[in-house]
Amino acid sequence: MAVMVFDHPLIKHKVAILRSKETPMKEFRELVEEITLVMSYEAFKDAPTHKVTVETPLESCEQEMVQERSIAIVPILRAGLGMVNGVHKIFPGARVGHIGMYRDEETAEPHEYYCKLPEGIEKMNVILLDPMLATGGSACDAIGLLKKRGVKNIKFMAIIGCPEGIEKVSKEHPDVDVYVSTCDRQLNEKHYILPGLGDAGDRLFGTI
Ligand code: PRP
Ligand code: URA
Repeated sequence: MAVMVFDHPLIKHKVAILRSKETPMKEFRELVEEITLVMSYEAFKDAPTHKVTVETPLESCEQEMVQERSIAIVPILRAGLGMVNGVHKIFPGARVGHIGMYRDEETAEPHEYYCKLPEGIEKMNVILLDPMLATGGSACDAIGLLKKRGVKNIKFMAIIGCPEGIEKVSKEHPDVDVYVSTCDRQLNEKHYILPGLGDAGDRLFGTI
């Protein structure tokens, strides 16, 4: 599997509310977090586990647990920040790295302005987060940056994707699994996703 588009009523329900221009900032933030959490169940299906012994009130048993320290959550700033808690709710011990990218308003070319990654990231399973996969430029550059740091295991998760962005990431980084809750119709002339949800960063942080 390289690209997974979710076909789940619970996610569709939440994405429909997320898209609405009537949805206020607080609810928008909560929905981004909730959708990320639900998508994470699929994205972490193959998370590495180790055996532990647990004492129940009745006896001891062998169980499996995920090695949280082997997981790095990397949001693409700003909008990816809104997704971090969705993954942290499942793996509170996961490390967090940050990659700052902004799109040029005219050309939509991504520009990196910040990068701080956990030590030893090259050995970790990285989940790269950004709610919007539009032209795919930001995701591709962020993946390229992680690979330059030696990261081998990367998954990319977005809430809204579109054919252009999905194709670009799949072509440039076929080794990266891509998870999108929905694949929208197209980009408009300003490189915004249609029908989309508008500017995710502005809606998360109230900068409209
Ligand atoms: C948005 C979004 C992605 C990028 C997607 O960020 O959060 O990072 O655009 O577009 P692309 O696929 O065409 O690269 P933006 O640059 O608006 O910055 P922000 O998160 O700070 O609002
Ligand atoms: N970034 C957004 O926030 N929304 C889009 O539709 C495209 C890029």
